[in-house]
Amino acid sequence: MEKKFFDKIIHGGDYNPDQWINTPEIWDEDMRLMNLAHVNSATISIFSWSLLEPEEGVYNFGWLDEIMDKLHANGKEVILATPSGARPPWLAQKYPEVLRVEENGIRNEFGVRHNHCLTSPVYREKVRNINRMLAERYKNHPALKMWHISNEYCGECHCELCQQAFRDWVKEYYHNDIEELNEKWWNGFWSHRMNDWSQINSPKNRGENHVSAMKLCWNRFVSDSHISFYENEIEPLREITPDIPITTNFMRMYDGIDYQKFAKKMDLVSWDNYPAWDKGRNEEEALAVAFVHDAFRSMKDGQPFFMMESTPSLVNWHDVNKLPKPGMQELSSIQSVAHGADSVQYFQWRKSKGGHEKYHGAVVDHVGHENTRVFRDVARLGEVLEKLSGVVGKESNSKVAVVYDWENSWAVKHFCGFNNINRNYLGECIKWYAPFRKRGISVDVIPMDADFSKYNTVIAPFLYMLKDGTGERIKTYVENGGNFVATYLTGFVDKNDMCYLGGFPGDGLMDVFGVWCEETDSLPEGMKNTASFSGKDYDVVHICDIIHSKGAEILGEYKRDFYAGMPAVTENSFGKGKAYYAAFRNDGDFTDDFCKMLIEKNSIAPDCGITADDGIEIRKRGNHIFIMNFSDSAKKIALDKEYTNVVSGEKISGETVIESCKYIIVTD
Ligand code: GAL
Repeated sequence: MEKKFFDKIIHGGDYNPDQWINTPEIWDEDMRLMNLAHVNSATISIFSWSLLEPEEGVYNFGWLDEIMDKLHANGKEVILATPSGARPPWLAQKYPEVLRVEENGIRNEFGVRHNHCLTSPVYREKVRNINRMLAERYKNHPALKMWHISNEYCGECHCELCQQAFRDWVKEYYHNDIEELNEKWWNGFWSHRMNDWSQINSPKNRGENHVSAMKLCWNRFVSDSHISFYENEIEPLREITPDIPITTNFMRMYDGIDYQKFAKKMDLVSWDNYPAWDKGRNEEEALAVAFVHDAFRSMKDGQPFFMMESTPSLVNWHDVNKLPKPGMQELSSIQSVAHGADSVQYFQWRKSKGGHEKYHGAVVDHVGHENTRVFRDVARLGEVLEKLSGVVGKESNSKVAVVYDWENSWAVKHFCGFNNINRNYLGECIKWYAPFRKRGISVDVIPMDADFSKYNTVIAPFLYMLKDGTGERIKTYVENGGNFVATYLTGFVDKNDMCYLGGFPGDGLMDVFGVWCEETDSLPEGMKNTASFSGKDYDVVHICDIIHSKGAEILGEYKRDFYAGMPAVTENSFGKGKAYYAAFRNDGDFTDDFCKMLIEKNSIAPDCGITADDGIEIRKRGNHIFIMNFSDSAKKIALDKEYTNVVSGEKISGETVIESCKYIIVTD
């Protein structure tokens, strides 16, 4: 399948000519350098509102006209940003309601960026207005190819407008029935029964912060507020430029917004990729980033995404900003493309002369010319990307999915009980994803309400909270022949964080898994139990469910403590499929061994026949195979037939070695 917005890999990034308004000769130099760097696109005007509208209703588009024209004359595609991510001082001064109120109830002063109320009608109107002006002005400009909405939406506001909007949101969620609210928030506990919607406030340390159902509602509300803020932003753009695709840049697995829900409103997903390549844990980081890429790719059914930002060298916001190893940024960019990115973009094109980010990596350094290591690396990568247009638009077709669900991540964060300090939902999902990636098997990362039917195997680690209908959907999937794997603390609560009665896992899942979880044990740091599986012993750490088989076959047992001899791993035949329950957490080889069993049993083939030493990632996209070495040493790979090296054009077969931080891309 294919979904294309361009016929080439977009190579470019955040370009801030507005910072150089008084030295326009720099603009011409930028064009020369962009051509040298094989850059074909620029994302502009992200933080330029104070230049575009220096006084209320007074507009200054001349500089932007000139830049758009220059970029076009130099063959660059323009991704034009809307400027809501940072507002001009006059706007905040005249309309203080646009500024955010923190959880402590104090309104922020003007400063930094973001920092805006999500509800303020004045801010929404001002944003709509400037966006309309931009759309009207550039609707026919040939360089305009995509809208970049705002920048990294995030945060929350606790002002009175937001409190009222929250109350309205809750009222609608609970069908305008305060008794339903009392029931779903279990307000009989600690005498919290409400008799008026006005008694609802946002969660705060100095107020209510122990009602997890309410905190879940707040998360949903804040997330929906960002989405509706975005919808407000794009209204004039959809009207005036209906054919220009729209995106906004996400931040890794940022948990303040349900990205899986938000993505449905976007034409394509984009995200800002800042791996910590400077921390000496490159293999681990490469695994985590692979997972994130796959999550973003899966948000629109496997459709390619944009990597909207990355640094061409270092960042400035770690405690200590070490330079990554040479080759790492190139490898990281190639990994993005391998996983479905149709762009490699940087923050930033040129280092600013002043301001907070002047020491952040950029393609063009303060020295100003092209004779730098970083510039040469970017230019070389640009040449490689020009040879990869064959992958543009190519989607993936995975047979395996790992469930990572934003709402569940909130629920896992909020509940109080069992092991309150060693709970790592994302880490557990990555742990179950790793065995497939290691074997070159493509994995989708999906929410719990995605379509399971296209997968041979679905793994849902720590699926603590079940959205409406999830139990039934898992049941149908397994009945029809699917393999579903669950772990400890599965199906304990519904979407209001209310426990299922009658035994865990709830919502009908006891039958599907053929187990009943009677108790859950938590193990303090350093304390372990042991579980057996397939003739091997594994450490049980942090948490484990004590389960009884109610018809499931027992594949492994606990070996110590009062629950020694009780099931730890089970398999239940249900309809045409199998439902597995892995009741404990292990930080060693268990997931790898268990998934190996699943892969063999279900004949899940790797995406290609190339094999490699551990430490190498192999990923197939279209007919391109990306073989990447994130480890610290050279690794061997074995090609099962003759391939063509896409970069050199040479034929390649047999065994070969890939040095640390290097990659090869081949086609058959
Ligand atoms: C991103 C942001 C950019 C820039 C960059 C620095 O999160 O969108 O504007 O600040 O970080 O790494």
